[in-house]
Amino acid sequence: MEVLHCLPFGEARPFGRQTSVQAQIMKYTTRTGNPANMRTDCLVVSRARAREIASALDVQEFVDHALAQTPKGIAVIPIPTNIKNLMVVPGDDPEIDDAAFRGLARRAAGALKNLAVRNAVWCLNDLDVTERDVYWKTRVALGALSDALYWYDDFQSKPSKDTRIARVGVLAEAGARTGTALAVKHGQALDDGMALARDLANTPPNVCNPSYLADEIGKLADGNTVTVEVLEEERIEELGMGAFMSVTRGSRTPGKLIVAQYRGSTPDDAPIVLIGKGVTFDTGGISIKPSGSMDEMKFDMCGAATVTAALAATKAAELPINLVSIAAAAENMPDGQASRPGDIVTTMSGQTVEILNTDAEGRLLLCDALTYAERFKPKSVVDVATLTGAMVVALGSHASGLFSNDESLSDALVAAGQTSGDRAWPMPVWREYQRQLKSNFADMANVGNRAAGAVTAACFLSRFAGKFKWAHLDVAGTAWRSGGAKGATGRPAPLLFQYLLDQAPA
Ligand code: BES
Ligand code: ZN
Ligand code: MN
Repeated sequence: MEVLHCLPFGEARPFGRQTSVQAQIMKYTTRTGNPANMRTDCLVVSRARAREIASALDVQEFVDHALAQTPKGIAVIPIPTNIKNLMVVPGDDPEIDDAAFRGLARRAAGALKNLAVRNAVWCLNDLDVTERDVYWKTRVALGALSDALYWYDDFQSKPSKDTRIARVGVLAEAGARTGTALAVKHGQALDDGMALARDLANTPPNVCNPSYLADEIGKLADGNTVTVEVLEEERIEELGMGAFMSVTRGSRTPGKLIVAQYRGSTPDDAPIVLIGKGVTFDTGGISIKPSGSMDEMKFDMCGAATVTAALAATKAAELPINLVSIAAAAENMPDGQASRPGDIVTTMSGQTVEILNTDAEGRLLLCDALTYAERFKPKSVVDVATLTGAMVVALGSHASGLFSNDESLSDALVAAGQTSGDRAWPMPVWREYQRQLKSNFADMANVGNRAAGAVTAACFLSRFAGKFKWAHLDVAGTAWRSGGAKGATGRPAPLLFQYLLDQAPA
């Protein structure tokens, strides 16, 4: 591999996976038949089923002995048969709840990663989960597997020699073939979309700039159900997006508004519009950030990556809806042409904004993207953004912050979060907070004071969302992990995809 260098203008792309959109990282299938007869590197089973299979394969004594030694944890038992390893999850309860099943799935997926096998068959749908069906159990399994088994090594000069799992079959219990197969189709669709989103977000910011994002999203266009249009700065300027332009002007890599449209329903069916913050690197601009952890600001495009994931998944799942995803892509840099604190710009909506802090750039991109969304006469608009550090303080990494001007939309998103396990929690957008945005010189300032920073950011956006049902997801705490496990999570793609599934007519 060549030496890493900075890309001056970013159109070229010497590094990284060239075909990330098509890259099929994990392949899931539906399996039927007697699990004891399957040829696999690892069969993942409940304790009850482990005993049945052991007796069918005549290794009962050996398996009983191994299980007795691991009464609590996950047991991995190598057996010299058509099944190379039996992975047995703990517990003998006749029925468990959502959280317990999710926990088992996560632990089994982690154990599979450590076992370093090439393929496995997942046979845990015999576990009874209160009020949940095989579709749900299969989706949870695929979600846990995808999360644990994702890897990213595009920029390591020596690719790791670790054995990687590439195929997992899910055993359909008798009579549950249809539900299992549908879940496998949907789970595969979401997993592929999320792998794309995570790849885009993990890609270093000297490579993943707005042009790169436009190229990668452009690969989703298929000349059939998906079209992608890229608005260049010239057009963005022409449309009157003064707020968008004020962010991107300070960067040498040009900003883009990347608009992908999926048509899965009739033309008269109003689309759902998803808008993603796509700041490929956020230095803060002239209001520059402190340098500690600044590298993590390459993840400031996770909103754009995950709305793209939702669109890719919707296409793969062939959902009968119309969907638009808009990536508002720019780089926030300090520069001779960068915005100064005190600058006043005119947004596409005509409202003027005094930029008191150039580090509050996400809302400046999103406000113009929201106005642009009006032309689609949308059923609903959901924007996704790593918008504020204050959101991390408020909810940490367990839930995304949810802000909305419509109760039914808010309820639908909370429900989609519960179903998918990728939760969001409602926050207020009250008039009292709006006052913090008062400016002495323009219609509004782009920041409030220190109090309730995530709320005032949402209040700012709400002023551009008056013409449709709107929700805003602040994913600053959920979109990536820091520390030893640093990397993009792909959230909130599971929530968004679930919302879209719920909107699709049955
Ligand atoms: N991208 C950041 C938000 C962010 C910061 C997310 C840290 C995750 C971790 C955003 O553009 C930003 O800088 N927001 C400012 C807003 C402030 C100037 C009102 C923030 O949160 O400090
Ligand atoms: Zn930012
Ligand atoms: Mn910022």
